[in-house]
Amino acid sequence: MNRFPSKLKKSLDARLQDNSLRELKTAAGGVDFYSNDYLGFANAESIFAEAQKLCEKYNLKQNGATGSRLISGNHKLYEITENFLAEFHQAEAALIFNSGYDANLGFFSSVPQKADFIFYDELIHASIRDGILLNHAKAYKFQHNNIEDLQRKISRLNLSENSAVYIVTEAIFSMDGDKAPLSELAKFCEKNNHFLIVDEAHSTGVLGISGMGLVCELQLQEKVFARIHTFGKAIGCHGAVVLGSQKLKSYLVNFARSFIYTTGLPPHAIATIYSVFQRLKMKETEIELLKANIQFFKKQLRIAKIDTYFVESESAIQCAIIPGNENVKKIASIFQQNQYLVKPILSPTVPKGSERLRFCLHSFNSEEEIKKLVNILKTSLTQI
Ligand SMILES: Cc1ncc(COP(=O)(O)O)c(C=O)c1O
Repeated sequence: MNRFPSKLKKSLDARLQDNSLRELKTAAGGVDFYSNDYLGFANAESIFAEAQKLCEKYNLKQNGATGSRLISGNHKLYEITENFLAEFHQAEAALIFNSGYDANLGFFSSVPQKADFIFYDELIHASIRDGILLNHAKAYKFQHNNIEDLQRKISRLNLSENSAVYIVTEAIFSMDGDKAPLSELAKFCEKNNHFLIVDEAHSTGVLGISGMGLVCELQLQEKVFARIHTFGKAIGCHGAVVLGSQKLKSYLVNFARSFIYTTGLPPHAIATIYSVFQRLKMKETEIELLKANIQFFKKQLRIAKIDTYFVESESAIQCAIIPGNENVKKIASIFQQNQYLVKPILSPTVPKGSERLRFCLHSFNSEEEIKKLVNILKTSLTQI
């Protein structure tokens, strides 16, 4: 059919005019400074082979899960991997979802109830916002990483005995790469009986011993109600896990609709997740390489005197704020001409005026590549 609703066309036209139209492009070849594959596991043949072996060991030579986990899709590797993940992250229980998006949608749509309150960092990921939109609790944002603002906003509430307060943040923020003040937040939540929820998407495999995440690094396991670790980033696969108590797990199995009403992940995906975590437990080589590259990159920025463009970050995500969709697109295309893959983050994904180039560093980037990246950026900044 050629007819297309006029309101939808208007929205697309507005994006086009604004230089913010999203388009799908097949992943190009080049030096990777844009993927979330921080440790290179998405392309590790050894992990692929290990996962294959595991499927054979458990007689799971099948391509699909065959159904939802509550019907036919709960193959053996799920239980093995969930038990392993709970132990690895020092949690009572673990529940795997099909993606981080699904985990956040399922968690936030089902856990906060009517008369409850949610306070979320203003830079929180879209998947959390979407989950929040689906529940009946009242939700308020607080200024990024600002506990005083959070306290001020909570103090204005008339909390009844019956109201639970959920506070939501990310360990490492996906669009800025900076860290949440987790110890302070945990202390505040403990003192006031609030429930802290931490999305560890970008700290999984990166922070803490063996990449256990920021909550473990800071020894806050007992003070956090739920953690969401995703596997599409440093783990190099797909899926996510919610860590918490056995009761929380049981609640989600019963009420999280994005868990209940969807086909489970195929055995090979779960075997891949299991294999990567086994590897991380055994050796930290990739994590150490990544950390060294982050420090090397920051040093090169200082030498080139362009570090002032960057948001302070010790993580694999390093962002240069260069206002204007046109400007960031132009510099990204200069990178592309040099076969360097760098992602411009446009408004409305980030607020107008804070458009940015988002550099993702990896364990496998060489120092030469990083040096060249910084040189290209320095030269490009003089051309806008
Ligand atoms: C902070 C955060 N949470 C959740 C997600 C969603 O994870 P997934 O890609 O596994 O759906 C992302 C992905 O971009 C993210 O950055």
